Amino acid sequence: MAFIDWSDEYSVSVDIFDKEHQSLIAIINELHQGLTSGFGIKEMTYILDRLLEYTSKHFYHEEKEMHAYAYPDFDVHKKAHEQLVADVKKYKDRLESGEQAFSLELLAFLKKWLVNHILGTDKKYSKFFAGKNI
Ligand code: FEO
Repeated sequence: MAFIDWSDEYSVSVDIFDKEHQSLIAIINELHQGLTSGFGIKEMTYILDRLLEYTSKHFYHEEKEMHAYAYPDFDVHKKAHEQLVADVKKYKDRLESGEQAFSLELLAFLKKWLVNHILGTDKKYSKFFAGKNI
């Protein structure tokens, strides 16, 4: 069983965004696998960098479509994205300075971070995007 298993309840009813969310979950699962397999700080930081990079691409993609279709909650959603990236960057800085070790606490934070955003904020656009060409 993976650290986070994709579930239909996570679906935002936009195929491409569901696929991107599944990729994000896969990277968090890789981090978990790395932690439990005893990966070193270098390998773990490499995976975390990939998570940040993919997250930024995904957030940009959502924002591009929201902007194109004049999504009414665009500003609020964009701010939530910015906060999420800032939170993970803070963790990354602490890891790089040696103040924080990779831990289950960090993984639990990432799990909550992603799942709460998908279930809470992303789900709000499902109806809005229904039938649109994304
Ligand atoms: Fe799927 Fe708003 O991030």
